[in-house]
Amino acid sequence: MAEKVLGVVGGSGLYAIDGLEDAAWRTVEGPWGKPSDQILEGRIGDTKVCFLPRHGRGHVESPTTINYRANIDALKRCGVTDIISLSAVGSLREDLPPGTFVIVDQFIDRTFAREKSFFGKGMVAHVPLSHPVSSWIGNIAQAGMEQIGIPHHRGGTYVVMEGPQFSTLAESELYRSWGASVIGMTNMPEAKLAREAEIRYATVAMVTDFDCWHPDHDTVDVALVVKTLHDNADKARALTKFMVENINSWGTEPTCGTDTILDAALITQPDA
Ligand code: ADE
Repeated sequence: MAEKVLGVVGGSGLYAIDGLEDAAWRTVEGPWGKPSDQILEGRIGDTKVCFLPRHGRGHVESPTTINYRANIDALKRCGVTDIISLSAVGSLREDLPPGTFVIVDQFIDRTFAREKSFFGKGMVAHVPLSHPVSSWIGNIAQAGMEQIGIPHHRGGTYVVMEGPQFSTLAESELYRSWGASVIGMTNMPEAKLAREAEIRYATVAMVTDFDCWHPDHDTVDVALVVKTLHDNADKARALTKFMVENINSWGTEPTCGTDTILDAALITQPDA
């Protein structure tokens, strides 16, 4: 099987990876503008890792100002074949309390102020997105959580809102009525762009709060979010290390979506 390079997109509170050897921050340039930060390249054992703090070191990019295209392009230029995306989310379900890690398998994209495609005028392409995440990467993440002892849940729908303000109660109730599990601000268009770039992608959504629908937590308590974020970050670092250590020896053939081979993902318009 071809050698895999793991890209790690770290969310709020996650700015490093445990056990990285030969680590160096590298500036990566491409045609899409500036990524959120340099990329921290290194390896654990024989596996290369490329870490990108989604908001930049110092948390300088808001969910809306993040240059998602430049970020995915930079990871592609570093040779990344697989991305594990880690992000803080609010919970829309009683059985997903703060501290739970959710391996989501669906998204509802409610963002509206972001560039969402590498394609456009002059080069038209449409990629399938029915299964937006790689269940194969999800299997490795799940095994890691079981070994480390992280409370987790397999499957769920992540509503991606524009932000930066949190939801109103009516919005939160609406998303719950749709059957969504968690809400965050960053995984779209990241997942769409990874698919366009033919990079396998999976998300671990780390619950920090109950959003505002919960009768005992009727507003998002930002101090609590920050505290839970830091507790979650320690677990996320251990999880990331596990994933790097295992991705190149994971027995089964990787898949992109549930049953989609990544090479079949891109549909380009034939030359006129
Ligand atoms: N990130 C963390 N908690 C969130 C929430 N409740 N809504 C949107 N994004 C979040």
